[in-house]
Amino acid sequence: MELDESSCIAKIKKLPKTELHAHLNGSISQNTAKKLIDLKKLKSGDNSTFDLNIPKLASNDLPGCFELFSLFHELTDSPEAIYLATCDVIKEFYEDNVLYLELRTTPKASFAGHMTQKSYVEVVVKAIEDTCSTVCQKMTVKLLLSIDRKRSVTDAEETMKIAEEYTTSTTKIVGVDLSGNPVCDARHLFPVLEYVKKAGLNLTVHISEVPNTFEEVEALLKIHPDRLGHGTYLHPSKGGSEKNYDLLKQLKIPLEVCLTSNVISKTVESYESHHFPLFRDIGYPIVLCTDDKGVFDTTLSKEYYLASKYYGLMEDDLFNHSFNSINYIFATEQEKCQLQELWKQQNNKNN
Ligand code: IMP
Ligand code: ZN
Repeated sequence: MELDESSCIAKIKKLPKTELHAHLNGSISQNTAKKLIDLKKLKSGDNSTFDLNIPKLASNDLPGCFELFSLFHELTDSPEAIYLATCDVIKEFYEDNVLYLELRTTPKASFAGHMTQKSYVEVVVKAIEDTCSTVCQKMTVKLLLSIDRKRSVTDAEETMKIAEEYTTSTTKIVGVDLSGNPVCDARHLFPVLEYVKKAGLNLTVHISEVPNTFEEVEALLKIHPDRLGHGTYLHPSKGGSEKNYDLLKQLKIPLEVCLTSNVISKTVESYESHHFPLFRDIGYPIVLCTDDKGVFDTTLSKEYYLASKYYGLMEDDLFNHSFNSINYIFATEQEKCQLQELWKQQNNKNN
């Protein structure tokens, strides 16, 4: 008997999962957004001045998504709000049985002088520690610091220095991400990314989410990131250059794939024409992720369901996909072994 969508998703929910590509502010759910609006009203002491009409998600394209990010940023413009948002996002991933999460966020200074990039990071780290030591004890949560393509070199260097400092003093921050509106030129930031690698930090970059120039893609690949986000236009059948594709196959850098994000933001026409099966069929390392579960109204279980529906992944394939993705996390071999044991235990329990 064929199961309907919600029964399939309920079943997939039981699988232990790793989430490696989730932006904090894009992952805020409608429920948390409401709490953040209340907090904002409470802080301003004015019931009438602030209301947020979160637009209908389905009508978004890429520029629409970036407008939504700005709205969410308005909601998380205080330490209390960032703390609340981080705790809620972690709990929601945990409810979806995500047992290993690498959350990423762009440290923001200012907030009317209340915050520096460093204090922003400190709040997020505190929220991670508090949540994992109380309600989400079975879960491991790490943090990546994002550099927005639009940032100045000075701001990006500040982010990178915080990552460098924290990586030696805590195990919570495990690397740096390059993200932001993919149509923006990021060339001025490449020396910072090279420094990230030289400093021994893990690096993941959003690459070819839109048809960026072959030169940009090649230059990014040559920095040797440890993971890649999206890679929508990397495959030659999607307009990628043969030279870059050859380099990619040689480097085998794991690709973080976000199905719903790509379809809703219209960088991919449909699930059927997504690049997931092209990479799966050549045995390329890929990992399913949500990107922005709030903005795209999804869950990791739903992304797994979509992969089963459109690309024929069976229950065992989904478990194997999740199990294999442990190889791509930013962690020590010992941590990977511990997670593999946990995955096996959970799988035995489910069977
Ligand atoms: P934040 O870094 O926690 O503020 O999360 C939201 C930010 O993540 C956005 O402002 C973008 O810079 C970045 N982001 C989220 N989704 C995408 C994407 O699909 N492509 C590029 N950047 C993204
Ligand atoms: Zn992303």
